[in-house]
Amino acid sequence: MTDIAAPFCWGILGVARINRSLVGPLRQGRHQLVAVASRSLDRARAYADAQGIPTAYGSYADLIADPAVDAVYIPLPNSMHVEWAVKAAAAGKHVLCEKPIALDATGIRQMQEAARTHGVVITEAFMYRHHPLVAKVTALAHDGTIGRLQGIRGTFSFPLDRPGDTRFDAGLGGGSLWDVGCYPVSFARTVAAARPLAVQGAAAWSEGDVDLSFFGQLHFPGNVFAQIHCSFESPFKTEVEVIGSEGRLLIRHPFKPEITETIEVQRGDEHTTVAVDGPPLYQGEVDDVAEAARTGRPPLVTLADSLDNTETLVALLEAARTGATVALPT
Ligand SMILES: NC(=O)c1ccc[n+]([C@@H]2O[C@H](COP(=O)([O-])OP(=O)(O)OC[C@H]3O[C@@H](n4cnc5c(N)ncnc54)[C@H](OP(=O)(O)O)[C@@H]3O)[C@@H](O)[C@H]2O)c1
Repeated sequence: MTDIAAPFCWGILGVARINRSLVGPLRQGRHQLVAVASRSLDRARAYADAQGIPTAYGSYADLIADPAVDAVYIPLPNSMHVEWAVKAAAAGKHVLCEKPIALDATGIRQMQEAARTHGVVITEAFMYRHHPLVAKVTALAHDGTIGRLQGIRGTFSFPLDRPGDTRFDAGLGGGSLWDVGCYPVSFARTVAAARPLAVQGAAAWSEGDVDLSFFGQLHFPGNVFAQIHCSFESPFKTEVEVIGSEGRLLIRHPFKPEITETIEVQRGDEHTTVAVDGPPLYQGEVDDVAEAARTGRPPLVTLADSLDNTETLVALLEAARTGATVALPT
């Protein structure tokens, strides 16, 4: 077990757009951002200079070989997550890997094996899970506030107008379900506190064979259902509604909660709100990795949890491709 006050040193693999949300949290408190790597050394150097990061590498392999690095943040295209999480683990680094952490169950099992073998933490960067909002929604869904839980409806859409974006590339793990649909699926599974039994899905496909819009249905045990929508083709919207036999909950910022977030509660004609305070978005997941590494406890988002999410997403895609209802592996 390491010292609670010892610096925890991070490296970043790739000069990704999302890094701008992480460079602050990766420097807070005991965290230190010590290195960045890019496929291009010039790009890494320019980024390191602009951000005040001490070391720049021209390859991801060089960064994970750096003994000064305790943990890596992986914001690479989706198809590269497993490869670099496993390589980083083999080099003894803890891993915070962007969502979706894997594109199939095999990838998750490879990471579970790597984490076990090398004694490191590997966790999926679902930042919303680190805000107590979703735990409060889950409690309200099950404590009778809205009667018996019947279902969850969730959406995450935005217009993607960047030609050439990796999200349009099937070979890099593109598509709206992997990119943003993973959030309402994760939220619904968390609130249902169960793994879906089966799913149905329908999608609009691009010429490059990624889903541009996706509508999915999840069947949980006990007659609990979820409907999810995600899209690159409609205006920005995020929302979750939790439906009960006597009322409902409405969450307007489920996936990017503010420090103080609000749950709207409707029971009969009565409308109330519940306020929930949490850490700044992205700080919770960074702190969680360091704490799990220090204490040996599991990270909040375990690879077993990621396996359920990944298998649900894989089943949804199969359902949309085939038109069949797809049962999840038992
Ligand atoms: N949690 C969140 O809020 C959030 C938000 C946005 C995105 N994300 C996730 O973060 C990841 C990155 O998304 P992003 O939009 O930030 O990506 P991006 O700007 O396209 O950056 C991806 C980086 O990966 C590296 N890369 C390596 N091989 C590549 C290839 N063949 N094509 C393109 N880039 C390649 C590049 O870095 P170098 O060239 O420097 O090596 C590139 O800068 C995705 O997994 C996404 O799902 C999460």
